[in-house]
Amino acid sequence: MTNVERARHPLAHAVDGVLEATVAGSFSRIGIVARRAVDHWDDPPRLEGGTVLVTGATSGIGRAAAVALGRLGAAVHLVGRDGPRSRSAALEVEAAGGTVAGVHLVDMGDPAAAAALGTRLVESGDRLDALVHGAGALSPTYRAAAGELEQTVAVGLVGPFALTQALLPLLEAAPSGRMVTVSSGGMYTQRFDLDHLVMDEASYNGVTAYARVKRAQVVLAAEWGKRLAGAGISSVVVHPGWVDTPGLESGLPTFRRLWRPVLRTPAEGADTVVWLAAGGAGDHVAPGGIWHDRRRRSAYHLPGTRPPHGRAGTEGGDLWAWCAAAASGGGGAAA
Ligand SMILES: NC(=O)c1ccc[n+]([C@@H]2O[C@H](COP(=O)([O-])OP(=O)(O)OC[C@H]3O[C@@H](n4cnc5c(N)ncnc54)[C@H](OP(=O)(O)O)[C@@H]3O)[C@@H](O)[C@H]2O)c1
Repeated sequence: MTNVERARHPLAHAVDGVLEATVAGSFSRIGIVARRAVDHWDDPPRLEGGTVLVTGATSGIGRAAAVALGRLGAAVHLVGRDGPRSRSAALEVEAAGGTVAGVHLVDMGDPAAAAALGTRLVESGDRLDALVHGAGALSPTYRAAAGELEQTVAVGLVGPFALTQALLPLLEAAPSGRMVTVSSGGMYTQRFDLDHLVMDEASYNGVTAYARVKRAQVVLAAEWGKRLAGAGISSVVVHPGWVDTPGLESGLPTFRRLWRPVLRTPAEGADTVVWLAAGGAGDHVAPGGIWHDRRRRSAYHLPGTRPPHGRAGTEGGDLWAWCAAAASGGGGAAA
């Protein structure tokens, strides 16, 4: 537990507990507005001289994170898959006073392309203080990514795994390397089950596929955290709440229409991502749980979503090995 986690006023603790219990209060805009007010949030630490990389930087939460990290003084590498959208995000970072370290067009569903980006950056001799995995989407219909793997799994797990692995030399060289993965509160509905992680076309359901991958991101982030602690790198995972983004509009249009008045702005959705990437929770944050509104929270709220007896200690290692095989072209079959 960090000092930041310990130091909390009883009122802030009580308000937070009520919000957590209501779910909608916690995940909606009400949650961040109330917590920010009662918890007296500081600005995240400045990042002058630091370099960060953000995937999903063209839209929504990732774009807001890239802009905010640039505003904090970091040089920002933006990863997108579309030229005009990526250049427009880079201009927004610069307009906010930030520095763009690079714009990289990479399909994050293609692990070979993700690994090649990491290798290029390592060879360039650049530094990297924080890596933000923001790319992701809920696809209502089945789509296969570059390596024939189902798209949600490829973009949310295998591509990020390949990028992380390739970038490790830079994160290890940083004074306090940080990795932040953007998961989702939707993961609370699913138990991690490697045998049912990848949905085949016949059984595909977009919401279920998305929630399973988001749960798996929590498992994988904790596993990376354990493996990398000795190298001084922390790996944490965030759920941003309900955020009004193009991704929400395309993935869950009815949900967006119903909840629109209380959805978070992209900047509010990015707040904890930015705060953690900037070191707001301190150096070498222990892995585990899931962060939301600048607090570490339990990764389990619903019965039946904890690992079955005997699997709790092994699921991270199993998923890590599966991702490693898939990233090197050895995976891809529907489980
Ligand atoms: N909005 C919410 O309420 C909410 C809630 C929980 C979690 N999240 C998570 O937050 C993250 C950002 O989502 P968002 O709501 O901000 O959606 P968004 O506005 O659609 O942004 C998603 C980003 O991911 C990129 N992306 C998607 N597939 C990609 C691929 N194959 N290769 C490279 N980039 C790819 C998109 O690029 P393009 O611009 O090219 O499409 C875009 O930059 C996601 O991981 C999402 O699951 C969102």
